[in-house]
Amino acid sequence: MRIPFWRQRDYALEPLSITDARAISLLHREDFARPWSGDEFANLLEQPTVFGFVARETGHREAAPAGFVLARLAAGEGEILTVAVARAHRRQGIGWRLMAAVLGELHGQRAEALFLEVDERNVAAISLYRRLGFREVGRRPAYYRTSQGPGGALVMRRDLR
Ligand SMILES: CC(C)(COP(=O)(O)OP(=O)(O)OC[C@H]1O[C@@H](n2cnc3c(N)ncnc32)[C@H](O)[C@@H]1OP(=O)(O)O)[C@@H](O)C(=O)NCCC(=O)NCCS
Repeated sequence: MRIPFWRQRDYALEPLSITDARAISLLHREDFARPWSGDEFANLLEQPTVFGFVARETGHREAAPAGFVLARLAAGEGEILTVAVARAHRRQGIGWRLMAAVLGELHGQRAEALFLEVDERNVAAISLYRRLGFREVGRRPAYYRTSQGPGGALVMRRDLR
């Protein structure tokens, strides 16, 4: 009997830097109705309160990012600005690891809580956030305009203390 070849994909996380701005803008474009440009990401990453992480498949250093997360910490509260995993790399734990890296950083900075907004139709993201301990603390009606029409946003909070 022949044993099929199987290679587990592995990913490494590292802090986002301004040099990643263009590549993450291309990934962002895959999923968001109003994609942010490379310049917008670069401007955000220049701000001292903004940080993030990028995931790359190991052994593929020059490859496009498999996923990234961008967050802000101000006045003891964190906020997820955006998070995305490339379609070809989903359901392999990258979204979880990126979010966990932000939570770890915020713990280290003694932040009180992490907030985010998510389209209430985004089943994948809401499921991920609930599993990470986020709970709904508000709702903004008709907040997102997408090809599916207007959608409400859930505001979610994860306590850190
Ligand atoms: C949301 C997103 C970041 C998840 O990334 P991912 O790397 O595929 O997620 P993970 O593999 O880490 O999944 C962790 C858990 O999240 C949940 N989840 C992820 N994708 C899901 C899906 N399509 N349906 C239901 N639950 C899902 C599951 O509980 C999953 O655990 P499991 O695989 O053990 O069941 C990714 O789907 C994405 O980039 N979506 C488009 C951009 C987006 O919506 N960003 C969020 C905006 S607020």
